[in-house]
Amino acid sequence: MSYTITVFGLGFVGLTSALAFAENGHKVYGFDLDAHRVELINGGKLPFIEPGLDDALLRNIHGNFIVTDDAENSVRNSDFVFLCVGTPTGKNGEADLKYIYSAIDMFANVLHDGKHRVIVVKSTVPPSTTSERVIPYLSAQGLLPGDRFSVTNNPEFLREGKCWDDAINADRIVCGVEDHKGEEMLRSLYSRFNSPFFAVSLNTGEYIKYLSNTMLASMISYANEMSIIADAIGDIQIKEAFNILHMDRRWGGASMSSYVYPGCGYGGYCLPKDTAAMYAQSMSKGYEPLMLKNVIAINNMMPQSMAAKIMRVAKPSDKIGILGLSFKPGSDDVRDSTSAKIISLLLDAGYTNLIGFDPVANECFAREYNFAEVRYCENVQVIGDQSDVLVLVTAWEQFVGIDKKYPGKPIVDCRYFL
Ligand SMILES: NC(=O)c1ccc[n+]([C@@H]2O[C@H](COP(=O)([O-])OP(=O)(O)OC[C@H]3O[C@@H](n4cnc5c(N)ncnc54)[C@H](O)[C@@H]3O)[C@@H](O)[C@H]2O)c1
Repeated sequence: MSYTITVFGLGFVGLTSALAFAENGHKVYGFDLDAHRVELINGGKLPFIEPGLDDALLRNIHGNFIVTDDAENSVRNSDFVFLCVGTPTGKNGEADLKYIYSAIDMFANVLHDGKHRVIVVKSTVPPSTTSERVIPYLSAQGLLPGDRFSVTNNPEFLREGKCWDDAINADRIVCGVEDHKGEEMLRSLYSRFNSPFFAVSLNTGEYIKYLSNTMLASMISYANEMSIIADAIGDIQIKEAFNILHMDRRWGGASMSSYVYPGCGYGGYCLPKDTAAMYAQSMSKGYEPLMLKNVIAINNMMPQSMAAKIMRVAKPSDKIGILGLSFKPGSDDVRDSTSAKIISLLLDAGYTNLIGFDPVANECFAREYNFAEVRYCENVQVIGDQSDVLVLVTAWEQFVGIDKKYPGKPIVDCRYFL
């Protein structure tokens, strides 16, 4: 069965989901408030770097996938409404739901018309948000889920840099549901995807997403704390130690081992905010999560720990070259980038002679952080030649061998990569 779908928010999650549905033969309307983003997408260009998604956009734009500026009308014609808007960190670490509410306000009126629709919260929201915040928000407007519409959630597990593959070959599809009709329609929508489908309670759907992200954050903080202990003890080959740890057959060759590896902390859009939101959600329910508290504390400590390492080898007058600006290799996403935190700490300490290079994220980084003192280099050769001290912050393949190319030049390898 082919459906009509409206997707609110055309970021990594919304655009990828919209195109995955379009590719599977559904008619998809996408809506975003960001005019520049809309213009790019309508012109067949991605607003970020994402291998495979660019071709999917060209295959589907103006065909099965249409970017609309009339959200209400597209929802009127739709069977599903997917909410894929941002859920940034609020002032106490909680997930800020303002974009979810603003998206709902744009189509709530339509829900009175009697056609059954499934509203799907795909954005990452803490467990109990759909049941305790979203449904009450609709109910307060006289909109009670039931005959006229279902309210569900469907957390997304894609990884930036692998969005397209993760969406069309998902390991699992998880839907939080509370009524039969909503479950059946989601099951039918996803039947064209070749992935195991799980229908669980509303709270469980949201919880599974946080189970995943808080576990990844915990593994990273565990590895980072172990590397700090190793530094304190001394004469420990940290890189070798972790590589040997991964040879234990109980890892089963899993790529998860990359998370149990020291670095300079987790960054990006998801792990910092989702770990903080799960902590805040648990606190609001009366339990202080001791482990998550320390996972966050260790992560917050890592940029300072790396800056201290850099200051041990560099003088304030040295030209310091920051290798890598995006939060991880393969992505131009600079949200919550560790490089930005390290640069701020160096600037505060009077290290103002800074240059940076990222294979794809120079422009995004310069725009997002506006560090007047930092100059950006066009390639690895320039930053390698010009720096007195190199600092590797993002483990891009392009940086392999840079230590051999510049023997004798001090390199602080924050990722234990070289
Ligand atoms: N980025 C990831 O890797 C990832 C993975 C899984 C889940 N998530 C979750 O998915 C959600 C979206 O993440 P993202 O990275 O795609 O965010 P994003 O910031 O890239 O995109 C969100 C988009 O929503 C738009 N928007 C905001 N309010 C709107 C409204 N009322 N109507 C229409 N558009 C609106 C914004 O303009 C923006 O383009 C978040 O909750 C995030 O935690 C992200």
